[in-house]
Amino acid sequence: MADPRPYEKLLSLADLLTPSAIRAAATLGVADHIQAGATTSAGIARAADAQPDVMDALLRHLTDIGLLSATGGDDREGGGDGGERHFALTPLGEPLLTDHPTGLRRVLRNDSMIGWGAQSLLRLDHTVRTGEPAHAAVPGGGYWETVNNDPSFTAEWAEQALTADAAQDQPLAWGAQHIVEDYDWSGVGTVADVGGHLGAILIGLLRAHPDLRGTLVDLRHVAEQAGARFARSDVADRATAVVGSFFDPLPKGFDVYLLSAILADWSDDDAVRILERCREAAGRDGKVLLADVAMPTGGPAVELQYRSMMPAPSRSVTDLERLCDRAGFDITWRGPVQGPRSLVELTPRPGPVTPESADAYRERGGDRG
Ligand SMILES: C[S@@+](CC[C@H](N)C(=O)[O-])C[C@H]1O[C@@H](n2cnc3c(N)ncnc32)[C@H](O)[C@@H]1O
Repeated sequence: MADPRPYEKLLSLADLLTPSAIRAAATLGVADHIQAGATTSAGIARAADAQPDVMDALLRHLTDIGLLSATGGDDREGGGDGGERHFALTPLGEPLLTDHPTGLRRVLRNDSMIGWGAQSLLRLDHTVRTGEPAHAAVPGGGYWETVNNDPSFTAEWAEQALTADAAQDQPLAWGAQHIVEDYDWSGVGTVADVGGHLGAILIGLLRAHPDLRGTLVDLRHVAEQAGARFARSDVADRATAVVGSFFDPLPKGFDVYLLSAILADWSDDDAVRILERCREAAGRDGKVLLADVAMPTGGPAVELQYRSMMPAPSRSVTDLERLCDRAGFDITWRGPVQGPRSLVELTPRPGPVTPESADAYRERGGDRG
């Protein structure tokens, strides 16, 4: 039977208020302030450095949706005198505590890296129209540039680096262990880990291959934290980190340039640019190890979530090899595809490569393959 009230249903499906209220509470630390003993709206507002009247409205909405309970005071809207009301966390509100084992507060904070990433969903129209993540439309750069250059993210990077230290003996995530174990690193003296993040893979590689030396290249905040991690690690004498962009010339002369889980964040044209920078740096004698990850997309909800943040979450190996061909590489080794992870060794094709502009490429009709 047709829904009798499509207007109300649609409005409720599209409502931004409740998600925004929960995220505001997570950002402002409402649960922590309540747990620390501030139970009135004035007290919670003071602790959160917020406006008491708006905080009061937020707390009442959180009560309406079951994250808080309220006792005492009168219902102002019902004509009461607005006397002191005391708020407490319900079991539904408890995961907003910073030290809750789910770590949910960080996911929901507007000012965390994950929370900032999720805000791309608010401009899904941009992604659907252009195929770009919505962050690409924000002045000042995309997601990675923002979290790596905006000083408000430095503390979170430092925290993440300490968490990464604690996890360094665990297996590497997303099948990255295959990079360490399946590629033939014998005879390789130096590796550049391009976009190497906090250095987990480089540390794993250097531990497993004692003759190998490595340099990580990444944007500012993360490269600084990776450098600090290397300095306090057991491979300190063989690992360095430099600040740089893979859209600019990369340090030259490494035996292998590792690109692990990088290309999904970039369009085909940008991915070819990144591969070309590696090719130029590798020169005639170097190799590139493309260790890509194809994110498993399920139904449309997961697909939209990914697409709002990255242009190509799950390229096939064939897709990747076409990009490598465009960038002037031959494929000289293929590892087995294991779960989401593929490994392909690339060797710069002999002879001069005339970089082809993206426009010329499109005019020519796309892929050669
Ligand atoms: C998805 S992470 C992959 C990290 C790591 N390679 C791995 O496999 O776990 C992408 C990395 O690319 C880095 N990145 C983004 N834009 C970059 C740029 N223009 N130049 C260098 N690194 C960049 C990010 O800071 C981040 O560390």
